[in-house]
Amino acid sequence: MTSNQLQQRFSELFNQSSTQTYFCPGRVNLIGEHIDYNGGLVMPCAIDYGTTLLMAPNTEGVFRLRSVNFDETIDIPVQTAYEKQGKDWFNYPLGVLHHFVKDGKELKGLDMLYFGNLPIGSGLSSSASIEIVTAFALNTYFNSGYTKLELVLQAKSVENNFIGLNSGIMDQFAVAFGERNKALMLNCDTLEYQAVDANLGNHVLAIISTNKPRKLAESKYNERVKECQEALADLQKELDIQYLCDIDAKTFHEHAHLISNPIVLKRATHVVEENDRVKLAARALSAGDLNEFGRLMYASHESLQNLYEVSGLELDTIVAYSKTDSNVTGARMTGAGFGGCAIALVKTDALEEFRKNLIEYYTKIVGYEPSIYSTSINDGVRIAQ
Ligand code: GLA
Repeated sequence: MTSNQLQQRFSELFNQSSTQTYFCPGRVNLIGEHIDYNGGLVMPCAIDYGTTLLMAPNTEGVFRLRSVNFDETIDIPVQTAYEKQGKDWFNYPLGVLHHFVKDGKELKGLDMLYFGNLPIGSGLSSSASIEIVTAFALNTYFNSGYTKLELVLQAKSVENNFIGLNSGIMDQFAVAFGERNKALMLNCDTLEYQAVDANLGNHVLAIISTNKPRKLAESKYNERVKECQEALADLQKELDIQYLCDIDAKTFHEHAHLISNPIVLKRATHVVEENDRVKLAARALSAGDLNEFGRLMYASHESLQNLYEVSGLELDTIVAYSKTDSNVTGARMTGAGFGGCAIALVKTDALEEFRKNLIEYYTKIVGYEPSIYSTSINDGVRIAQ
């Protein structure tokens, strides 16, 4: 939808014009998967696609939430607390409103229209994008005085405590702090980050959506979080650590015998080795060594496939195809997995050929088509022009 069409929809819905428009991107994670809740290093970046929010005050003291993408709506008065209502999309903004009012921030009624062009539920952080665009918009509009980091922590709390997914901080951080042509190497323990030059040279970043419905994703995700906690508790019998990522691979392997459950051992092995890979990847990316970066992407995928077991036929098919295509320098699943999206570094002038061949290969094996996008690495949440 163009911004004119969105303005028009806003006027039809609310009988007034919107006074402000905000945009928050989604993200891909270049490397460092299932690391954030283990206190390690991740390397996400914000993309071109995301959530637009049009907003205007109303005089009725009501929040009216509408979406171009979903039919469900909610009209709810300004009050001192909110509770989750079913599973509808508006729980993300509602959770943000809950945090603002709980902190005693003064809010007034608003008409709000959301439009997302991220494929929904595709693992590109559409939920973090909705949370952060809402938090940023309220904070800006009402001068609520939060720092950007506070908005990120609040949005994570919405996800963990209001929605009920035990996710880490990566997605909210990436979509808030994203920088053009930079990957954010974020330490998820200290929340310090380094913006690493992502000079992709003659390559473009492709996003391939498996188009697989993600059914068990939430329960499987929470299961992985628990498995990591179990590994940590085992290691803590001898090691004074707070997170799995507090140790390198060498120390880990020396103490691996402490982990009695073989499945838990596989999960922890992925986490510790992946954390080490991020350090190598940051060095390769900033030096413009895309071949090394691509090799690390493939290694990361293999580990997620075999040790962490969050991939699947669809994602594996994309990566298997990529390995056979000399125009692809690296590929891996991105985000939580269980369907969702993969990313690939593809030679820019071969993108169309890649698209055609991958669709053919994937459809033959999986039975339906993937969707393929290309994106630049872009800025985080902002006031839209
Ligand atoms: C999801 C979560 C993130 C992170 C990734 C896996 O996107 O929201 O916090 O754990 O999965 O790296």
